[in-house]
Amino acid sequence: MKILVLNGVNLNMLGKRSAAHYGTFALAELNKKIAEHFAGSDICLDFKQTNHEGEIVEILQRAAERYNGVVLNAGAYTHYSYAIRDAIECAGLSVTEVHLSDIYTREPFRKVSVLKDVCCARFYGKKEGSYIEAINWLIHKER
Ligand code: DQA
Repeated sequence: MKILVLNGVNLNMLGKRSAAHYGTFALAELNKKIAEHFAGSDICLDFKQTNHEGEIVEILQRAAERYNGVVLNAGAYTHYSYAIRDAIECAGLSVTEVHLSDIYTREPFRKVSVLKDVCCARFYGKKEGSYIEAINWLIHKER
């Protein structure tokens, strides 16, 4: 089983962003924590990050050719990208929405997710735990 962990805009800046919301680790360390958690399992994880909305769309358009599911942290695109929403809707595989922070206890604009209705599950507020829970959810759904 192959899962893509796809991080969007500004997630490459982890380590330099608010530690209270996102933790102190860089993206590479986040990916390492996630990979280590599933090491020894038969789950194959790929990690990608892009700041570009259109690239997220193109990755999602091709994702079903290679993956069984996608764990997506679209960053701020979550709150307004109808292009990403449409791409998820026709991606032909399960996409879960994740956030490091608890988007419901922050600024009002973060409480809105235009992706939530087309994602099959959502995990937030647990830093790397949000990703781990999303991957476990996909494993159980796809098996
Ligand atoms: C985020 C939450 C978003 O509101 C924010 O724009 C991000 C990161 C999170 O992981 O908590 O860039 O998706």
